[in-house]
Amino acid sequence: MLVLGIETSCDETGIALYDSAAGLIANALHSQVLTHADYGGVVPELASRDHIRRIVPLARQALADAERQLADIDAIAYTAGPGLLGALMTGAGVARSLAWALGVPALGVHHMEAHLLAPLLDAPRLRLPFVALLVSGGHTQLVKTTGVGRYELLGESLDDAAGEAFDKTAKLLGLGYPGGPAIAAQADAGRPHRFAFPRPMTDRPGLDFSFSGLKTHVANVVRTLQPLTTQDVADIARGFQDAVVETLIIKCRRALDATGMDALVVSGGVAANRALRARLKEVAPAVYYPPPALCTDNGAMVAYAGWLRLKGGTAAPSADGEERLAIATRARWPLQELAPP
Ligand code: KG4
Ligand code: ZN
Repeated sequence: MLVLGIETSCDETGIALYDSAAGLIANALHSQVLTHADYGGVVPELASRDHIRRIVPLARQALADAERQLADIDAIAYTAGPGLLGALMTGAGVARSLAWALGVPALGVHHMEAHLLAPLLDAPRLRLPFVALLVSGGHTQLVKTTGVGRYELLGESLDDAAGEAFDKTAKLLGLGYPGGPAIAAQADAGRPHRFAFPRPMTDRPGLDFSFSGLKTHVANVVRTLQPLTTQDVADIARGFQDAVVETLIIKCRRALDATGMDALVVSGGVAANRALRARLKEVAPAVYYPPPALCTDNGAMVAYAGWLRLKGGTAAPSADGEERLAIATRARWPLQELAPP
């Protein structure tokens, strides 16, 4: 079965082809970083307009890369939420219309479920159950995962997501958008221990996170040190990254203890962070994270999650059914609402 995956929930247009026999055979991506850079963050309207420009050329490119034709597509999976509503609607609109034209089903996929299942794409030895740490720009969640659609939320961020904290801290330091890679690059030149930022919510039991206080600490340091030297920026970035990484590590260890599981899966944009990946080895005998390109937003994880659901029996609106043209999208969509296929 050949599944076309379409991801447009935020600032990346991702189109991929997953073949159930051959695996991932195309993974085309357009990042909107340059579109939003001048604004210091994602401008939703610009994101939607750019997705519209990019989807069809990227789909053509993916088909060409895989040496397949439109007629070879058996199903389409698209991100239906959570995300920016206008951006989601561009992908959903294209997915539904193309599915209708081709006479194939189109399935709406949950963006965080796609992140959660992405490690399975690349790790043939990985087996369920596992604890998943999802760390993206909008979410920080620990999820006990016993099957596709069998998710128990163990803890989540009560305020800023980990990626959001990276992005806001980068802004405070005058670094560009997106903040994660910018902070990570600065942190490489930073000295450890100059700044002892707090490890929020690690001194009490529980698996929830809170990252907004950390940002306030950084803001205070930035204020007292004005004007910042290059070394100050690097040292603050290092202190901040160390604090986030250690907080995540502590909570992952706790989640594994609480569930008695020994496999940990880490996914979402922040999982691309090298310092985090280096320290994860300490936490569990088996830690899996996708290659960086599958951690940040992409079409491959959407195609793959769609395939797993279709294989499991989730009914996608059929090409001639009543719902076939319904552009169903959800800006907010709690992961816990998902059911097994
Ligand atoms: O999963 P993702 O691509 O999009 C969302 O679904 O949100 O995650 C984007 C987030 C951004 O906040 C970005 O700053 C962060 O992931 N990020 C990183 C790194 N690369 C991306 N954070 C820390 N270190 C990185 N290397
Ligand atoms: Zn994402």
